[in-house]
Amino acid sequence: MNNDLLNHILAQAPEEEPARQNYFTGECRRVVSGISGEKGRHLTCSVNTFGCQMNVKDSEKLLYILKEIGYQETGNEDADLVLFNTCTVRENANQRFYGRLGTLKSAKKRNPDMIIALCGCMMQEPQVVQTIRERYSHVNLIFGTHNIYKLAELLFLYLASHVNQTEILDGTDKIVENLPSERKFSFKSGVNIMYGCNNFCSYCIVPYVRGRERSRAPEDILKEVRDLSRDGVREVMLLGQNVNSYKADITFPELLRQVSEVPGIRRVRFMTSHPKDLSEELIRVIRDHPKICRHIHLPLQSGSSRILKAMNRHYNKQDYLSLAEKIRNEIPGVSITTDIIVGFPGETEEDFQETLDVVEKVRFDSAFTFIYSKRSGTKAAVMEDQVSREVVDDRFRRLLDLVTRISREQTKQYEGLVMEVLAEEVNSKDPSLLSGRLSNNSVVHFKADPELIGQIVNVKLDTAKGFYYYGTLADDVSLS
Ligand code: SAH
Ligand code: SF4
Ligand code: F3S
Repeated sequence: MNNDLLNHILAQAPEEEPARQNYFTGECRRVVSGISGEKGRHLTCSVNTFGCQMNVKDSEKLLYILKEIGYQETGNEDADLVLFNTCTVRENANQRFYGRLGTLKSAKKRNPDMIIALCGCMMQEPQVVQTIRERYSHVNLIFGTHNIYKLAELLFLYLASHVNQTEILDGTDKIVENLPSERKFSFKSGVNIMYGCNNFCSYCIVPYVRGRERSRAPEDILKEVRDLSRDGVREVMLLGQNVNSYKADITFPELLRQVSEVPGIRRVRFMTSHPKDLSEELIRVIRDHPKICRHIHLPLQSGSSRILKAMNRHYNKQDYLSLAEKIRNEIPGVSITTDIIVGFPGETEEDFQETLDVVEKVRFDSAFTFIYSKRSGTKAAVMEDQVSREVVDDRFRRLLDLVTRISREQTKQYEGLVMEVLAEEVNSKDPSLLSGRLSNNSVVHFKADPELIGQIVNVKLDTAKGFYYYGTLADDVSLS
């Protein structure tokens, strides 16, 4: 495209969002349709997502934009546009990522027109962007977590100029509303209620790469949920790094209640709850509203009060135990799941024993266990007494043995009961089975017609298999 034309197109672009991006989506569509005409085929894209539910949701927004531009989604990485939405919460994610970037170089040799785009949390780290710019010149677009809504504009600039584009914002106080997303499941969807994190747990990089906390207005959230419901969504998951610090003219529990009352919505979940500010009101609202799922993900991180202090978590062992007990007493059938880190700097065998003790006492229904990973820029990265690899590996194994045994026992207690399951997908290993979830988030596999996907059905939980069940359909009458 010549410079005059490019400047003309840029000068015409509206200032306001999302109008500006809709305009660039149209411009991209024109270019992409031209290329597709020359090639005599549709252009394809593949979106690869790493990390948490926030990234999953962002990827759905990005895929929507790409489809509007005219790309067709494909599973393979030989696509015409390959996008990586990255995570940097632990070091090993980064290593794997560079490996895949390397293999893309040869894919690009086969298809020189291929566009490679990178976004997400890793891109918010200046040294990462510098490395990519120095060593991976086949990467065409780099953007961060604060400007995903600008994909169309950045892509247009690249398509029009063939100059690689990099745009990373340090932070933002704005929330761009009305960004549609391409849902992976027709019947369930994540809904952002807040972005960023202000907690600065001393090991964690998220506040640095996702910026300060911003809450969406309740009206915008409720409108999105009503629109989703009209579109066939039955389960929503409200998303935030710590939903308990949601700040608006209503509290998080009140928002949760209002969302659960949107007509057509059958189940509401939320992720994640920080133990320091989980309120009595939240426990009551869950207890009194059966559409709110019987599941609280409550990251423990460590059972040692000393380590919790060093982690800047603002609760101690006893606070956590009392909270978990209150939750179990007030909400029958609730499952409590958690995240635990082993090998935080200075963690002794005694500290680790405290963690095992909390696991024994709370009896987590399931737990994600992580080996502490040093993230530069965080407070913990410069702490002394980093724990040796052998000690960490040994503790990790012991912790895993314990959480596995307990979650097996926990799952066992519902064996033989009939419970409501939202049928989600055909089982990837055995296509005669459907896989779905209980309100408490346990997975159930059962023989049924794929027609039932998206419906809530009664299933008898025949055998508990550790983290999941095999069941049989107790009736084929849909409850929805
Ligand atoms: N906002 C959520 C957690 C998001 S990150 C919360 O506070 O609960 C998901 C999990 O990754 C964390 O709960 C923690 O257990 C783990 N994690 C974060 N930083 C880590 C690090 N540096 N090393 C190992 N695990 C880490
Ligand atoms: Fe990280 Fe803590 Fe924020 Fe969770 S609450 S994202 S662990 S800083
Ligand atoms: Fe990873 Fe970013 Fe989520 S670092 S865990 S994708 S917020």
